[in-house]
Amino acid sequence: MIPTDNKRPIRSYVIRSGRLTDSQRKALKSHWQDHVIEYETKLIDIDTVFPETGKLIIEIGFGMGDSLLTMAIENPDSNYIGIEVHKPGIGKLLHGITEQKLTNLKIVCHDAKEVMLNCFKAATIDKIQIYFPDPWPKKRHNKRRIIQPDFVELLERRLKQNGLIHLATDWEAYAEHILEVMESFEGLQNYCGDSNYWLQADRPGTKFERRGQELGHGVWDLLFEKC
Ligand SMILES: C[S@@+](CC[C@H](N)C(=O)[O-])C[C@H]1O[C@@H](n2cnc3c(N)ncnc32)[C@H](O)[C@@H]1O
Repeated sequence: MIPTDNKRPIRSYVIRSGRLTDSQRKALKSHWQDHVIEYETKLIDIDTVFPETGKLIIEIGFGMGDSLLTMAIENPDSNYIGIEVHKPGIGKLLHGITEQKLTNLKIVCHDAKEVMLNCFKAATIDKIQIYFPDPWPKKRHNKRRIIQPDFVELLERRLKQNGLIHLATDWEAYAEHILEVMESFEGLQNYCGDSNYWLQADRPGTKFERRGQELGHGVWDLLFEKC
């Protein structure tokens, strides 16, 4: 956890007390040991975790996991690790991984800030994706946004040269905040040109995105490359 001045970590999430469905509860019980990498303050041994070598793609905050599952099915040559703290979403994704017999998708159930700090070597990740992070729209909550300079620095260090960070949000003020934080970081460049959003982003839609669209929200995708 990244300590604050008064040593209390600022969390970018609240654990929601969403009810588990029977299927999610069963998946958590039966498939956890097969597809969840237990969080420890030590490096994940990627070669042991995945039977095949491939690009390493990390998704932070996958929610219910539908889009991550689709990507892992469509890209069997890449290896995916999804990081999430929301148990119903983890249960749902475990169900999907098992049903599809996927060996290229694993889960870590822990705060992504600590996972990124402790579990990955520098310059080992091909792509990091963060879709619809909680926008924390109230000014007094802005500090809980996961995209902050110190976290971006941590992500950049874990990326390989020319590695990518793909983000999306449905909150315009957060999109502007992300642009500002990412573009002021020297080691990253906006793949779409300064101040530009990625207009033709290629990724499956997410549950949170669909909910926002029903409410009339826009979508802003951003893509940055480690240079
Ligand atoms: C607004 S939801 C979006 C979920 C999904 N990406 C989607 O678009 O449907 C944000 C998710 O990020 C997760 N999250 C936020 N901060 C996190 C952190 N530090 N570590 C792990 N997960 C986090 C939350 O639990 C939540 O499920």
